[in-house]
Amino acid sequence: MKRQPQSGVILAGVCTMLAIPFVYHRVSHHSAAVTHVTPVSVPAPAVAVVEIEGYRAWKQINDKPEYIMSKLDMLCVGPTPEQIAAEAKANPHARHYMVCYVNKIGEHAMMQEKHPHFPVGSIIVKEKLDEPSLTAHISLLTCMIKRNPGFDGAHNDWEYVVCDGGNKKLAARGKLENCGTCHKEARNSDFVFRGELGQKRLASLVN
Ligand code: HEC
Repeated sequence: MKRQPQSGVILAGVCTMLAIPFVYHRVSHHSAAVTHVTPVSVPAPAVAVVEIEGYRAWKQINDKPEYIMSKLDMLCVGPTPEQIAAEAKANPHARHYMVCYVNKIGEHAMMQEKHPHFPVGSIIVKEKLDEPSLTAHISLLTCMIKRNPGFDGAHNDWEYVVCDGGNKKLAARGKLENCGTCHKEARNSDFVFRGELGQKRLASLVN
């Protein structure tokens, strides 16, 4: 059948009618969205990592700040500056003092279990201190947060977090490859080394 010229006009008319409410909707929706934006000055978050807020009230794992033994320190020869620099890059815990804290959820696994399975929600915070004193300047916080199964199965679902000592500025968080690869060495204890518990306490754990 041959197309009548007026059918095109009718079609165009119908299309316009259909389009009007759509365009109107878009415009009204858009303007509504704009009018609902209230110019309130949102205060900057007080802390970088909310999950660890107030962590110093948690269970303190080692009583006294411990020197973090560098693998290089155990060698007979003094390390070269290049080796120190390389290690500082590879191992963020090198050459500092540390104190560790664990939250209530992770406390039993951390302190009592020989082969711990940390429950979801467990958080371990490790402070790096410049001096062997609890009042010393905290230069960095490294943390592990146990997430839901499936978060990162290859690394036992730990999220790794690094922020400044005052918990004001986040350096990195997430499935941090560098952290997870090394912590995998502690596979018999759910990727947590627990060096801070001390050999004696570790040996006394029974089940
Ligand atoms: C080269 C290996 C290595 C890397 C890389 C590493 N760690 Fe560790 N981490 C350790 C060792 C060993 C311990 C236990 C002894 C100690 O505290 O020094 C530890 C301890 C910890 C602890 C206390 C809980 C525990 O396992 O005993 C936290 C929290 C932690 N690391 C977070 C991190 C974060 C976050 C990163 C990445 C930025 C990271 N680690 C990278 C080796 C590593």
